Amino acid sequence: MRRPDVDTSHAAPAEDLTEAEAEAELARLAAEIAHHDRAYYQRDAPDISDAEYDALRRRNAAIEARFPALVRPDSPSRRVGAAPEGGFAKLRHRQPMLSLDNVFDPAEFAEFAARIRRFLGLGAAARLRFVGEPKIDGLSINLTYEHGRFVRGATRGDGTEGEDVTANLRTIGSVPERLHGQAPALIEIRGEVFMTKPDFLALNAAQDAAGEKPFANPRNAAAGSLRQLDPAITAARPLSLFAYAMGEASEAPAATHLAYLERLRAWGFAVNPLSEPLADADAAAAFQARMAADRAGLDYDIDGVVYKLDDLALQQRLGFVGRAPRWAIAWKFPAEQATTVLNAIRIQVGRTGALTPVAELEPVNVGGVLVSRASLHNEDEIARKDIRVGDTVVIQRAGDVIPQVVGVVTVRPRGPAPFVFPDHCPVCGSLAPRPPGEAVRRCTGGLICPAQVVERLIHFASRTAFDIEGMGEKTVTEFHAAGWLSGPADIFRLPAREAEIAAREGWGALSARNLVRAIEARRRIPLDRFIYALGIRRIGERNARLLARHYGGFAHWREEMLAARIVGSDAREALGSILGIGPAIAEELVDFFAEPRNLETLDELAGLLTIETPAAGAGAQSAVAGRTVVFTGTLETMTRPEAKARAEALGAKVTESVSKKTDYVVVGADAGSKARKAAELGVRTLTEAEWRELAGLGEPAG
Ligand code: IVH
Repeated sequence: MRRPDVDTSHAAPAEDLTEAEAEAELARLAAEIAHHDRAYYQRDAPDISDAEYDALRRRNAAIEARFPALVRPDSPSRRVGAAPEGGFAKLRHRQPMLSLDNVFDPAEFAEFAARIRRFLGLGAAARLRFVGEPKIDGLSINLTYEHGRFVRGATRGDGTEGEDVTANLRTIGSVPERLHGQAPALIEIRGEVFMTKPDFLALNAAQDAAGEKPFANPRNAAAGSLRQLDPAITAARPLSLFAYAMGEASEAPAATHLAYLERLRAWGFAVNPLSEPLADADAAAAFQARMAADRAGLDYDIDGVVYKLDDLALQQRLGFVGRAPRWAIAWKFPAEQATTVLNAIRIQVGRTGALTPVAELEPVNVGGVLVSRASLHNEDEIARKDIRVGDTVVIQRAGDVIPQVVGVVTVRPRGPAPFVFPDHCPVCGSLAPRPPGEAVRRCTGGLICPAQVVERLIHFASRTAFDIEGMGEKTVTEFHAAGWLSGPADIFRLPAREAEIAAREGWGALSARNLVRAIEARRRIPLDRFIYALGIRRIGERNARLLARHYGGFAHWREEMLAARIVGSDAREALGSILGIGPAIAEELVDFFAEPRNLETLDELAGLLTIETPAAGAGAQSAVAGRTVVFTGTLETMTRPEAKARAEALGAKVTESVSKKTDYVVVGADAGSKARKAAELGVRTLTEAEWRELAGLGEPAG
């Protein structure tokens, strides 16, 4: 057989290939690598060097990464045996894969070193030589080599047993198929699979373009890419590996860790070039500081430094305690911070109308996450830290929480003016006052503010407010998206669209008719429900009833609220003197009426509705007013006719049979089918005592 041309040094780089060239090249590589595999595995007579062979596989992987659609069914990256269905097979590590204890400062590191000295019976003066290695936040893997050949590889798993990801590991260029030179007959080599920052960004951009979910950070991207049942997917992902540790070995490959790292390099592994021997604990502290400073400029994310005692014989003596070795430690960096430029301060309006300042940043990588936004908390924080647009700021990410702006680092050049927090909603332009004693400004235009209107309309139409059947979250969201609802008054314009509604997908003549009926049925509304439906902050059902009773009618309420805008006015005094309405509630009402758009909305509604003056007496206040109630079974404290009369006096409607429209079924002794029906329909049932409590009838006399 003709010796295939393996000199890839003159071949066009994968980046420069056209799709047609790539296809031809992948076909050629598949045939060629298959040939070498047969020569190696079946005839034990390789005809190229290991380095040349690895280069072929790397080239294949690189082209596949660029043209994932061209990955062949017989691609070398797939041919290494597919993973079993439903998951990966388990592989037991010959030696357990340990984790590391953490330290966070020089004192804790000194204590770690002192523990080693105590254990080994060394004096305080004995120098401990360490090797420092950047701690990459990827996933650790265990590679088994037999007679220099890569035979299997597994994830860490629970430390004892991991997942067999051999096929996937073979697609990674930096996992040598064969060890160059002499090697123990059996050796477990451990290292970290990771993704570089540029590879991570490019992968996420590709995910985005393909409409796929981006990965949260390089670690997740690496883990997700390695744990793929289809090795072709792994092959198309840019994974890297640094080797750094050893499990079982049939013979000791070195006397020191540093020498072992050298052997790893010679065998063909990538070893982190920043790894360094350190003469003592002071040198370790200096290395730690250097790594912390260099961290942001590295191509990959690190979360600390691993320090390993260099002498392997001493490592052996020290052994491990629990799941961590006594001879190594991870010195973690403090909370992950980065420095970047604050491009803008954007004010976000939440569904409740709260205005939240958000920092728009020059994108920066913070601990593996590309951060382009961070929280600025609130108005006072911005002022206190004197954060200005254009400043260079320090941002911090602790765990998975939203990144925060910690402070400003620039000595400011003449430049930016202090940030002025807006007093109007940036979304709808309504007034956004800051209630006294509160940290947050709120938009008062909730009924029409696009950021809030869906939420507000759901409330407006809900059971305890306008009670429009069929006008729930789904319908509100749908009609808002259709452009039919930009404020509450639009609900009462929906009947004019009956035909259009009927024609919508999922609707039909009947459901459109029912919705229109439900809307029309609510053109008359008691004032208290009307007030409550507006969703003014702090105005719940109870306060709405207090206001309705006090002011009596809509026109009067409106007039008084407008007058109350002036502090010290009679109207303001009157509002404040309503029992149960405190100054904070009064403030919210006044703020609501100060926004002209709210007045427009109110007047629009008033023109479309009949707002009823509440009935005098207890009924208007009762929690059961307007509710439909069924009594069943024998009541203890009153007869059924008395119960009915008292319920009606409280404004409830009493019916004989249970339906979906029933709000409460009051169940006495020996109740029969009505209680069952209630359970079937999911209607709320009450005991007699619960009913008395809800209706405010108090404890029975006697
Ligand atoms: S040595 C007994 N060296 O950190 C030795 N681990 O927190 C155990 N890691 O599971 C591992 N860089 O995933 C070692 N240079 C390095 C490392 C490193 C990152 C990870 C590894 C391990 C975890 C322990």
